[in-house]
Amino acid sequence: MIDLHSHVLPGLDDGSPDLESSLDICRMAAADGITDMVATPHYRNGVGVRDTGVIPPAADLLRKALAENGIPLALHVAIEMPLLENYLELYRDGTWLAYDPGRKYILLECPPLPINGAQVLSRVVDALLRAGAIPILAHPERLPFLDRIEDVIRLRRQGALFQVTAGALAMHSSSGHRAREWLDRDIVSFVATDTHGTNRRPPILSEPRDFIRARCGAAVAEALTNGNARKVLDGLPLD
Ligand SMILES: [Fe+2]
Repeated sequence: MIDLHSHVLPGLDDGSPDLESSLDICRMAAADGITDMVATPHYRNGVGVRDTGVIPPAADLLRKALAENGIPLALHVAIEMPLLENYLELYRDGTWLAYDPGRKYILLECPPLPINGAQVLSRVVDALLRAGAIPILAHPERLPFLDRIEDVIRLRRQGALFQVTAGALAMHSSSGHRAREWLDRDIVSFVATDTHGTNRRPPILSEPRDFIRARCGAAVAEALTNGNARKVLDGLPLD
């Protein structure tokens, strides 16, 4: 399985504080059957990174430690970008690190927007698509302004991709309700852990995979926890 969303790099944001904690996360992920994990540190959001130049050395440090400790996990990097005023510039100048070498797939942290948030988000998605990007929405199930399913279907048809948080699927909350409804309506393209530590959103994808398998079948479960993410890393179109 492939986890497209994690705060596993040590000391860069509100995720793992140090190398040992990063290794603990990676050990747990590998034991769960996760083969690939993408580190997606926050950018300029509270404690997030202010200079993306710190990301590659942090990833190299962790990769080295993974090899030394015999932990079988391939580590990739991207960035979780909040909606900033100059988002198009950040995409064009390469600050917004993408998932794939061709720099198409990018992770957008869904902003807490007001009541007309769906329209605002739709304009952002449109501008990014025109610039050549394919925006993946991080934890969209948390957004109350996406309560109207028509708005969600429109965003999806427009070309936004929905990445739901693993832990949300079983939640008895409005986030959980939205996540399950979107799953049933074929809106969701990925499930990711958004892990911040072994206790805070742990790096577990087997539970959501089994949940989806029971609800939607094995093929959907495979696509949402592995197949679609592989295409994203390879820069290939999703089906
Ligand atoms: Fe995150």
